[in-house]
Amino acid sequence: MRQYELRTQTGPAGLHMVATEPPVAQSGQVVVRIRAASLNYRDLMIAHGWHGRRVATPRIPLSDGAGEVIAVGPGVARWRVGDRVVANFYQSWISGELRAEKLDAALGGPIDGVLSEQVAFAENALVRVPDFMTFEDAATLPCAALTAWNALVEQGRLRAGDTVVVQGTGGVSMFALQIANLFGARVIATTRSASKALKLRQIGADLVIETATTPDWERAVLSATGGEGADHIVDVGGASTFERSLKAVRVGGRISLIGWLAGSDAQVNPFPVALKGIAVQGVDVGSVEMFESFMRAVTRNRLQPVIDRVFLFGEAPAAYEYLASGKHFGKIVIAV
Ligand SMILES: NC(=O)c1ccc[n+]([C@@H]2O[C@H](COP(=O)([O-])OP(=O)(O)OC[C@H]3O[C@@H](n4cnc5c(N)ncnc54)[C@H](OP(=O)(O)O)[C@@H]3O)[C@@H](O)[C@H]2O)c1
Repeated sequence: MRQYELRTQTGPAGLHMVATEPPVAQSGQVVVRIRAASLNYRDLMIAHGWHGRRVATPRIPLSDGAGEVIAVGPGVARWRVGDRVVANFYQSWISGELRAEKLDAALGGPIDGVLSEQVAFAENALVRVPDFMTFEDAATLPCAALTAWNALVEQGRLRAGDTVVVQGTGGVSMFALQIANLFGARVIATTRSASKALKLRQIGADLVIETATTPDWERAVLSATGGEGADHIVDVGGASTFERSLKAVRVGGRISLIGWLAGSDAQVNPFPVALKGIAVQGVDVGSVEMFESFMRAVTRNRLQPVIDRVFLFGEAPAAYEYLASGKHFGKIVIAV
């Protein structure tokens, strides 16, 4: 079978396709024929060695993959050959709250990922793909979508009528927009690109702020909320956005700190957190239990992930380059 290895953290050039022996299902494991994988900004960071957590090479990249079970090991009760499954990002976070030991087994680094024709997974670290969903769609869910769900629903306790701010048009933000729509929330979206603004409206943003012409987007959020501020801000910018998010959120509102697209070094005045009684929550993807709960919402509402482009398996380095270009709107998928 074929798979990719990230041999050096030198960007997409460090990716090499190799031929290898297929995995064998050990006790409690199933082997999945991967049909599709998707990229996250994190994969780019790992490929370049920019990611905060150390990832030893060579390493099979990518965390997000879906496919069908082709072999079951001894003792496996949950799955049969032919079942359609998607892998959880954290293979050891099955349920309960996040603890340090549950962070050890993230696919694509530190442990081997899914950019491979076949992968062996622990049977309890997989979620069933609903019948209506393609493998391409299912492969977009494990990292970006589950993070948005955890931020807004599991930790965020989103309510109908809330105002949610999402930043940019990447994977996390597009899922946050769609989940907010499912809950009857109002969505204010920012983007650096005028051409993406129209698409944002088409997929359900109530208000779009173009940051090229309105860099002080927090003022626009205040103005759109009668001076009160948003109930929930899904912050993926980090250094350049957090201070503005503190201004744009309402008294008693919530900020989910998720990403650091604009860097992680920031000097921030923390007083507004206390003075405005803001809940600032760090979000780190989610558990299998959360993924199953999210999948019920996906199924009930026939949620359609926003996919920008599907690359072929042999084009994986080009898919990384496309992610790096920032031209994408939603998710980038690799058909395996
Ligand atoms: N904590 C977690 O569990 C978790 C999980 C998933 C992702 N993340 C993090 O969340 C962030 C987003 O990840 P993703 O996979 O959704 O990324 P992505 O798909 O690559 O999307 C990035 C989008 O954000 C906008 N953007 C890019 N650079 C920006 C900047 N400097 N300032 C403001 N906006 C910018 C762009 O949209 P426009 O062109 O429309 O402006 C871009 O398309 C990353 O930092 C990632 O590491 C964290």
